[in-house]
Amino acid sequence: ETKPRIPVVWLHGLECTCCTESFIRSAHPLVKDVILSMISLDYDDTIMAAAGHQAEEILDEVRATHKGAYILAVEGNPPLKDGGIHCLPGGRPFVDKLKEMASDARAVIAWGSCASWGCVQAAKPNPTQATPVHKVVTDKPVIKVPGCPPIAEVMTGVLTYMLTFERIPDLDRHGRPAMFYGQRIHDKCYRRPHFDAGQYVEAWDDEGARKGYCLYKMGCKGPSTYNACSTVGWNEGVSFPIQSGHGCIGCSEDAFWDKGPFYER
Ligand code: SF4
Ligand code: SF4
Ligand code: F3S
Repeated sequence: ETKPRIPVVWLHGLECTCCTESFIRSAHPLVKDVILSMISLDYDDTIMAAAGHQAEEILDEVRATHKGAYILAVEGNPPLKDGGIHCLPGGRPFVDKLKEMASDARAVIAWGSCASWGCVQAAKPNPTQATPVHKVVTDKPVIKVPGCPPIAEVMTGVLTYMLTFERIPDLDRHGRPAMFYGQRIHDKCYRRPHFDAGQYVEAWDDEGARKGYCLYKMGCKGPSTYNACSTVGWNEGVSFPIQSGHGCIGCSEDAFWDKGPFYER
């Protein structure tokens, strides 16, 4: 309670803003406690009061006063084609803004599959050369928190860990926090007994679907997807895609957007 709040700068590149939409729904901890008591969110394009030049000046101020101490949180990614002109927040290429702010940050968090892997804007043939953050920021740890979007409590959980222990969480070989991405959806899925018993949904709304059988034959990517949906759940743990009757599309995995089609007739 007596610790100064850690400064956080939250940048937005090519993205859809649903990572922010997810984040603001965190219940444990409540997002209001994260923003008002735990961190000092000094810059965030989507929720800050400042705008225009006034907003951009804050970035210089944070770099000057909190050099090496602030966390850089990045939603979305930089497009590199044509000198980065396909994303120009504040009138200059996002890639420049990203590199500049990363150079003085203590650590970088890549929110979501856009920042971690590229996501839909990097779908073949990737016309703007959308590029994940770790390929642009190479001189410091980039903590990947993938998902499209990531689970709210995973996002605030990563921040809480960093504030509590004053270090970054243990990462797996892809740079994801092992505590949230160490297991496959399939490992803890409540439909797993049906998979083991060979009981599958064969068509939408068939008898197996009504009985809650395994969705593997309907294209469920749970066996190859590392995320916390089947343990932490969504909306305060109320449900997750498989629980609502649809297979996992692997939204936290690299290149999931190019591995469709998700539906075939
Ligand atoms: Fe939106 Fe998904 Fe990108 Fe997050 S990862 S900004 S939810 S497209
Ligand atoms: Fe595995 Fe998907 Fe079946 Fe669950 S529904 S047991 S994650 S294949
Ligand atoms: Fe995404 Fe699969 Fe979870 S689609 S939300 S990783 S169940």
